[in-house]
Amino acid sequence: MRIGILTSGGDCPGINATIRGVCKTAIHHYGMEVTGIHNGFQGLLTGEVQPITEDMLSGLFMQGGTMLGASRESVFKRDDIMPGVDKPTLIAKNIKSMGLDSLVCIGGNSTMTTAAKMAEMGINIVTIPKTIDNDVWGTDFSFGFDSAVSIATDAIDRLHSTANSHRRIMVIEVMGHRAGWLALYSGLAAGGDIILIPEIPYDIHRIGDCILQRIKNGKPYSIVVVGEGIKTEGKKRAATYIAEEIEYETGVETRETVLGYIQRGGTPTSFDRNLATMMGGCAAELIASGRFGRMVALRGNRMHSISLDEVAGKVKLVTKNNDLVQQALRLGVCFG
Ligand code: F6P
Repeated sequence: MRIGILTSGGDCPGINATIRGVCKTAIHHYGMEVTGIHNGFQGLLTGEVQPITEDMLSGLFMQGGTMLGASRESVFKRDDIMPGVDKPTLIAKNIKSMGLDSLVCIGGNSTMTTAAKMAEMGINIVTIPKTIDNDVWGTDFSFGFDSAVSIATDAIDRLHSTANSHRRIMVIEVMGHRAGWLALYSGLAAGGDIILIPEIPYDIHRIGDCILQRIKNGKPYSIVVVGEGIKTEGKKRAATYIAEEIEYETGVETRETVLGYIQRGGTPTSFDRNLATMMGGCAAELIASGRFGRMVALRGNRMHSISLDEVAGKVKLVTKNNDLVQQALRLGVCFG
């Protein structure tokens, strides 16, 4: 059996570990052949592929990024890359001409939606949830998230000393798209005093009062962790908007840091390496047993799979009754 593998959407630490998990299990355990598809779904359209052999996988598990390249090419949306081309039909034709019996797609929400439509076309497809945002429905965690939380936590740890030296308010913006998982987990881990996430509306006056009360209580600096997707006025970045508003409200010197793409770079944590390896193996197992149209998922501490129909079009968001939110509130963290 020959499987195709591609990586789609934003990159993150752990993709190469996942590629290794899928390919080594497929080749070594199931005796399959593997074709690597470059630059996500774009490679399926343009035929940019290469065979993947076991020797190509050595040392891959610790490398950041994706050896296959990624893109945000969306098969079912018209775009200017291939005007006038019936992309779904071309993809089905290319899969056949490449001799691919099935496809493993590693990606985030939009990849799941695309994959569900391709499964409806009769393409044998299995997906693996990948994103630093952790916003893929149906899995406790996606790989990439733990690595991004560790990077953000280290960065926020470093802001405490400079905030203390200058008695400043430090605002740090983390990624996460429309979800607040990254801000919540890194904010709690790094002792954020105020954590703003898209899912919980905030009142800037309340934030100002919280900071001034902290100063009255002998806490001369505060750390404010904001998810990039929070509601702001105008086109300003979240950190810029919040920093300006806090300084205006409190009169206290406030500085901003936008962590950006550092959260998506470098080697994956040990948790992500093992999660990627387990998810890769589970994907190969689904293919070997002919169970297609499914996404690999972590539930509790076990590998499961869920129908792509249940995942497509959904986003997993933080809820107010989330355990970390509740415990943070008990510690006195302000969510705005
Ligand atoms: O989905 C991962 C992510 O890093 C988001 O957190 C962020 O908003 C987005 O990708 C950035 O997209 P791009 O890499 O296309 O700039």
